[in-house]
This record gives sequence, C-alpha cells and structure tokens, in this order.
Amino acid sequence: MRRKLAAGNWKMNGTAADLAEVEGICKAHKGAGVDILICPPATLLSRLTDAAGDVIATGGQDCHAKDSGAHTGDIAAGMLADAGATYVILGHSERREDHEETDQDVREKAKAALAAGLKVVICVGESLEEREAANTLDIISGQLAGSIPDAVTGETLVVAYEPIWAIGTGKIPTLDQIGEVHDFIRARLEERFGAGVGRSTRILYGGSVKPGNAAEIFAVSNVDGALVGGASLKAADFSPIISALE
Ligand code: G3P
Repeated sequence: MRRKLAAGNWKMNGTAADLAEVEGICKAHKGAGVDILICPPATLLSRLTDAAGDVIATGGQDCHAKDSGAHTGDIAAGMLADAGATYVILGHSERREDHEETDQDVREKAKAALAAGLKVVICVGESLEEREAANTLDIISGQLAGSIPDAVTGETLVVAYEPIWAIGTGKIPTLDQIGEVHDFIRARLEERFGAGVGRSTRILYGGSVKPGNAAEIFAVSNVDGALVGGASLKAADFSPIISALE
C-alpha cells in the first residue's frame, strides 16, 4: 500500500549542464510504478522541474520557517512550491551540523512546508559514536519526537533514516541494523499517529546507496525506498537504483 520512492539529494552539486541527466532518467522510467524525486540546488529547481515533466517530482533541500522577510540567503517553503517543488528535505544531518539546526528548528520548518502544500522528507540518524555507545534507537526516538510536527499524514510525511557515518563513506549498516531501525521508526510512528498514518508513511534509507547494494537494502522490512546522494547525480547510477525498486 506504500508507493516506493527513489529520492535523489543533489546537495551542493549541479549546474544547467546536468539537466541532461534528468532527461535520461525521464526516458528510462516514464510510467514507472514508483515515485521518483530529485532535490537539486535551488538554482536549478525551476529548470529541473520543467525538464522532469510528470515523471520526476522535485523538491528543495531546506526551507525557512517563516513565509517571507529579512532573511538574506534563505528560501521560504512557498517559494519552493512556486518554483515547482512538491517536496522538501528537512533536518538533513549536514544542515543539523553545518547550521546547528535543532529538532525544534526542523519541526518549525516542517510546519511551514506543510502549510505551503509541500510534502516533507524528515531526516534522522545517529553518529558513529552514538551507534558504538548503543544509543541509536534513543537518538532516533528523540529526533522523531522533536522534528515531526503533529499535523502530518501518510501522504505528506516521509521519514529518511540516514546514519551519519554511512553518508558519503561507502559504508552501510548491516541489513539487520537497517531493519531494526526501520521497524523501530514504523512502531514509533504508529504509536504517535495511529495505524493509518503510521503504516502509510514511507520510510527511506539513506547513506551510500549504490546500484550494487540497492536491491538488498530494498528487500529489508519497512524500507520503502532510498534517499540517495552521490549516486543520484548521474543517470547511469540513479537509474539502476530506481529499477531496483520497480
Ligand atoms: O541525503 C542523501 C545522503 O545524505 C546520502 O548521501 O552520497 O551517501 O548517498 P550518499
């Protein structure tokens, strides 16, 4: 009942020349039975949305909690929607670390995004120290409780589990470890929001997903897709990951 989602986070990568990658993905996956999302840098959002047609949804990588005002360099959720976005990634560990974003900040941004009609991809994940200290589930629990606002539905909320130590490192948790966290997230969502929302919310895995490991990760319970960084930049890498979900 949950539609699979292959999401690409281009981070601070990509210029107009990279729109050709999107055209390749559109050709290869037109009519795919899964949702495809690309979140490019804001400079490309509008053009990428045009290139993506009805095959790929687009999203922002962050938004401000306010609708407008004197916030130089920031982008409001309504502006992302105006540029064609239907999703926004919030609380990525790089935002939490580089910009000292707290769970409360992420929650406020998520409220603004939902009010602007966007779907939110809320990221959670533990550091290596936290995993080694056997604190992973406590950390995830706190991030879920603090970052997700009350007014979400299975349609508007996506949770991405991204262990920080797996991002861009080529290391991934064992499949058992991924399953343990995804099952835990599902249980927490059901507990807080009830079975309807809890069971229909998609939970993505992120962190060094590649063509070579995607299929085994997607076979893990409660993994509804992936949030892919580096391997989403080139159609030759992202396309087989999408195919592994189809
Ligand atoms: O948001 C996706 C990301 O953090 C994972 O990055 O490059 O390890 O796939 P990567």
